[in-house]
Amino acid sequence: MTSSGRSHDSRASVIAVAHPNIALSKYWGKRRVAGNFPAVPSLSLTLEGLSTETSITLGVAEHDELVLNGAAVSGTALTRASAFLDRVRDVVGSRSRARIITANDFPTASGLASSASGFAALALAATRAYGLDWDVAKVSDLARRGSASAARSLFGGLVELTAGSLDGREEDILSAQPIEASLTRDLRVVVCVATEGAKAHGSTDAMRSTALRSPFYGAWLNEAPKIHESLKAAALAGDFLTVGALAEQSALAMHGCALSAGFAYFRDTTVRVIDAVRTLRLDGLQAFFTVDAGPHVKVFTRAKDVDAVEAIVGRVEGVIRTIRSGPGEGARIVAAASGASTGDS
Ligand code: PMV
Repeated sequence: MTSSGRSHDSRASVIAVAHPNIALSKYWGKRRVAGNFPAVPSLSLTLEGLSTETSITLGVAEHDELVLNGAAVSGTALTRASAFLDRVRDVVGSRSRARIITANDFPTASGLASSASGFAALALAATRAYGLDWDVAKVSDLARRGSASAARSLFGGLVELTAGSLDGREEDILSAQPIEASLTRDLRVVVCVATEGAKAHGSTDAMRSTALRSPFYGAWLNEAPKIHESLKAAALAGDFLTVGALAEQSALAMHGCALSAGFAYFRDTTVRVIDAVRTLRLDGLQAFFTVDAGPHVKVFTRAKDVDAVEAIVGRVEGVIRTIRSGPGEGARIVAAASGASTGDS
């Protein structure tokens, strides 16, 4: 038995599901202290329909193993997952290695937030498998250490992640928190998939280089919290059009800053979809765009307009397919079994 939870079962097997999230006000950049604290606050919508399912089984492998979308993975991805599990093992004093089997039903590592759902599912499955009784806030803090946006995927609907404190320490807790807004249930997202491939630059390295090289990084650090606060206030007030205008401002400021450091995530298709969104607004539809660290445009709209919006953006040259989504649930355990050490199966 540990001070942090129940005794852990050396043959436990746990399956967790998490959904990606799309930020309306973006996080880009990290605090200088270790521990993966975001430099600016962000607010996102967790998406239904797109899922990562992750199973962790203890006591079946001598070394940590990672299977991603059906293929065994080694190198950086395995090292990152293993280091993440070490955080949990250090808390419970366990040496049990894990077999991690994880799969996404949407493109992996291409700016569709697979690291958010991936680390959210991994954090939840790992804490349960190693016997920790942590509440969701503590699991969110753990997930953030893998990928800051993952902290948000522990929760459903609209979710805020504040910035880490300037003079913080690595061990400080920083969890995301859900925002109750009546607007949430009316929100719809049409993801315009521009490629099924992986993105060229990982976001962690791109953020580090942006902080070093962009002449606009200081302006971003100043402006992003203001955009975020106004956007959050508009969401709480149910003001969809202001939320939309500010979300576009946040995305463009983030990409302007990243571009000035050499990171160009926009492709021809990205620009064409953005133009199409602007045109359909002129035609009276309520829609706005956002873009993350990849070429796909995510179009936010309302339930009443989603059919028309999807039909138009789906025909834009270069859009391979669209994925329609809306507010999704937070991460959850879908199966848990204990193993031989307790006599269960
Ligand atoms: O959590 P990361 O390291 O994958 O970075 C996510 C960064 C953006 O998706 C571009 C913005 C955000 O707030 O999700």
